[in-house]
Amino acid sequence: MNALLTVTRAARLVGVTRAVLQKKIQSGEMISFDGKVTVESLLACYPDAQLEDNAEFTRLEKIRELAFGKRVFERALPDVEVLASRLAELSKILADNQEQVSQFNKLLNKLWDKLDAIKEQANADTRLMAENLKLWIKNEVESAMEPGFSNPLAIRDNMLRVMAAQVTVLPSKHDFLVEGQDTLLEAAMRSGIPLSYGCSGGNCGLCKAKIVSGQVKKTLNHDFVISETEKSQGYVLLCSNTAVSDVVLEAPVAGSVQDIPFQQLSARVKKTEEFAGDMLLLHLQTPRTQRLRFLAGQSVSLRVGGAFSAELPIASCPCDDRNLLFHLRRQPGNLFSDYVFDHLKCNDSVEVEGPQGEFILHEKSPRALYFIAFDGGFAPIKSLIEHALSLDAQSIHLHWIGSSREAIYLHNVARAWDDALDNFHYLEHVAGFDLRAVTAKREENLMSQFREIVGGDAGLVQGDVYLAGPASAVLLAEQFFLALGLPKTRVSVAVIN
Ligand code: FES
Repeated sequence: MNALLTVTRAARLVGVTRAVLQKKIQSGEMISFDGKVTVESLLACYPDAQLEDNAEFTRLEKIRELAFGKRVFERALPDVEVLASRLAELSKILADNQEQVSQFNKLLNKLWDKLDAIKEQANADTRLMAENLKLWIKNEVESAMEPGFSNPLAIRDNMLRVMAAQVTVLPSKHDFLVEGQDTLLEAAMRSGIPLSYGCSGGNCGLCKAKIVSGQVKKTLNHDFVISETEKSQGYVLLCSNTAVSDVVLEAPVAGSVQDIPFQQLSARVKKTEEFAGDMLLLHLQTPRTQRLRFLAGQSVSLRVGGAFSAELPIASCPCDDRNLLFHLRRQPGNLFSDYVFDHLKCNDSVEVEGPQGEFILHEKSPRALYFIAFDGGFAPIKSLIEHALSLDAQSIHLHWIGSSREAIYLHNVARAWDDALDNFHYLEHVAGFDLRAVTAKREENLMSQFREIVGGDAGLVQGDVYLAGPASAVLLAEQFFLALGLPKTRVSVAVIN
């Protein structure tokens, strides 16, 4: 087992989230070198690490399943050939280890003979010393053979290597695990890493990346042609290959909205569902050969019925496969809203253009995340929270302020996150008036709600604040937090009408 482990693998080994280990690293409780932790410091923090000690990890997986509707967690076991390759690799390591053990045994026997030879020629004191040394060696060898002697993390690491391969992306140093039959691209997206891609089907070549070390296997035939020179340099398509062993690859990672190209595609309606508060869930699915590349929190323009269009925030995260979710409020007289509520059916085509918007997560910030959603402002905030969950953010706080109780239309989702995750905290607040029309008289009412929120959590002023909802409420909240002394760079705003 390597002396240094990435935080992803170490967290998986002891059954906690990356956020928990990162907290220990920041507090100095666990030692890290260049983003990796030593096995020794991991064992010092988790001396009782056992194979079954994975409660927190399981809990996170459950909430992810809930958040993503089990759509991206359907497959658990790797491809048979991948499994066979990983087992073959482990068998080779086992054979090498057995050979080493046999060499050590021979060495031990020689040492035994030498000690016996010394005993025969030595005086009484030396004979006693040699006898004691033999006894000590015998005891040490016997205790090393005890079943409990072996490091449980080493056993777990080997099991993990069969079920999942680890990928490190250069130069960004992001890392993620490839599980089940996921391609490298799918696994990266599930972990919230925005690699470059276009079609996800082997046609566009945008996901081309260079394998620096490790073994990959093609799982999908692709039309895009990689030249022989590029192949010899290690280039592959991430959407068409999976990892057989641990892999290091070179690929660009989107760091800002400028890195995401403008796209146009035709999606299909998978489902529509009406919520309380005159809200509707619009669930679109992009074609297998063309996915939408976007950053969590961004919006797109939708055109329905060939004529009616609107810009809507995406309420799902990029880690959610081909699914694009939107929350739409009924607005009688608005042609787009009328068409979606009254005419749009399953399988209808919806034109999608975008993405746009800069309401995205500051991923490199070490601060706690505070989300304040007003009514339908929950849509882009849901996208950001799901993305933050896939990145194992350390501390996530959600306050949902509704014009009425019905306006907090997905409180069950927020409460489920709160129940299942130690690092997620949720509170809902009812304003009692229409947040789209905050009059001067009601401004004070809303400000006192903000003061109450800040008064209940001293950490908020140290965190990153994300505000989304109708203009009158969001802009008032922005003013409030800036007046508290938060710098503009730590207050992000999305106006949702
Ligand atoms: S070839 Fe288009 S995303 Fe891979």
